[in-house]
Amino acid sequence: MLLRKKIMKKFLLFLTLTFPLLSIELRWDWNKINTEEVSFPKNFIWGVSTSSHQVEGNCYNNWTLWEKYKKYEPSGTACDHYNRCHEDIALLKQLGVDSYRFSVEWSRIEPQQGVFNEVEIKHYRDYCIALKNAGIKVMLTMHHFTNPVWFENKGAFEKEENIQHFVNFCTKVFEELHDVVDFWITINEPAIYMFQGYVRTVFPPGKTNLPKASQVLWHLMLAHCRVYKAIKQLPAGQDAKIGIAHNILQFEAFRENNLLDKVISKNYRNIVSDCVVEFFKTGKFNFKFGSELSPTQLPYFANFEIYYPDAPECLDFFGLNYYSNVLLNVLKGSEDYREGDIRTDMPYAIYAEGFYRAIKQVSEVGKPIYITENGIPDAKDDRRATWIKRYTYAMSQAIAEGYDVRGFFYWSLMDNYEWDFGYYQKFGLFEVDFKSQERKLRQGSLAFVDIIKKYKELN
Ligand code: BGC
Repeated sequence: MLLRKKIMKKFLLFLTLTFPLLSIELRWDWNKINTEEVSFPKNFIWGVSTSSHQVEGNCYNNWTLWEKYKKYEPSGTACDHYNRCHEDIALLKQLGVDSYRFSVEWSRIEPQQGVFNEVEIKHYRDYCIALKNAGIKVMLTMHHFTNPVWFENKGAFEKEENIQHFVNFCTKVFEELHDVVDFWITINEPAIYMFQGYVRTVFPPGKTNLPKASQVLWHLMLAHCRVYKAIKQLPAGQDAKIGIAHNILQFEAFRENNLLDKVISKNYRNIVSDCVVEFFKTGKFNFKFGSELSPTQLPYFANFEIYYPDAPECLDFFGLNYYSNVLLNVLKGSEDYREGDIRTDMPYAIYAEGFYRAIKQVSEVGKPIYITENGIPDAKDDRRATWIKRYTYAMSQAIAEGYDVRGFFYWSLMDNYEWDFGYYQKFGLFEVDFKSQERKLRQGSLAFVDIIKKYKELN
């Protein structure tokens, strides 16, 4: 038995080493493509996204403490969106969007365990009403990377028993806002929360522990499903549209025939992208890192499997966040680029073909898709228009092939606090002067404005 297993293992290793590896990367010839040739379904939703900690300013949560501890640039007053959110509605109107995705800050609403701040709830409620009055649909995220300090101190999503706190919070928010919110996102990018906080250590709590990472991601999946079920049982819950926002980050081998690049990228791809899709598709949560084939015997091995049959029923739509792929080159010790790649200001290139692939991948879950984030960090504003044209073209291609994409939210409405990168990264359609708080529409953003205008005229 043992001998057979050993032979099998050797045979698999031999196969992987000797077979020329087919590239999974898709590349289009952009010189031959007319990005103006796009079409979008009637009632397609156009929006923009932000998150509380990144724009509101003066929050007290686990991230505020983390910024200090890590000596990151402090988030401070950010875009002062907490105080200026009403006047910022004019920015949404200027773009012509009909929807806005933003998040409520848990630490404001429930500053102490079980104590809800009615003034803060009213703040968000009044804001949702103002958006509605302006003809803007609301997509509300309940968790976008930050935790109240009390929740963090309890071990946050490391412990299954803590999930109930999150369910209580979401239930309260739903009870208070259900009549003024159009779409609900329970958790933003659970796998990125896990990866940045428990593998890369750039997000709190900054641990390197893969078995723990697998537990955290599993608990986030469970938290989503429990919130979904709790809300659906409420009187207004049946009609609520509830989803999750998941980032597909395609780690791929830079050297396509190199076993190391291939194995390591596959491991990363599994824990960061694929296992969440698989969970909602089949109910199987399969967190594997450091496969048996790995010749490196990666130090933080994790192999956690569990089955939750209800998972495919715990989603009304799938929120896809997509930016780019990451080409891993083990030789270089980091990401790499293909010849001709247009780089962004973050460590990834413009890769709209990956967006098309990601839409196809998440469509396997079998739910309507909303693109809940997509945008470029581009301080010089000399690549933003190209990004917008190529990515909307890629999305339109997927739609033309029958993939059920119903909306697109650009990241981000305005420049904001980009976590461990501070204010250095410029994702905004609007440039923000953080001293005067003046917002100015960037030239490159006009490509987005034009698409929306054209689409509206057609409908
Ligand atoms: C996150 C945002 C972030 C954006 C750009 C997404 O992963 O949800 O909070 O600002 O990417 O990096």
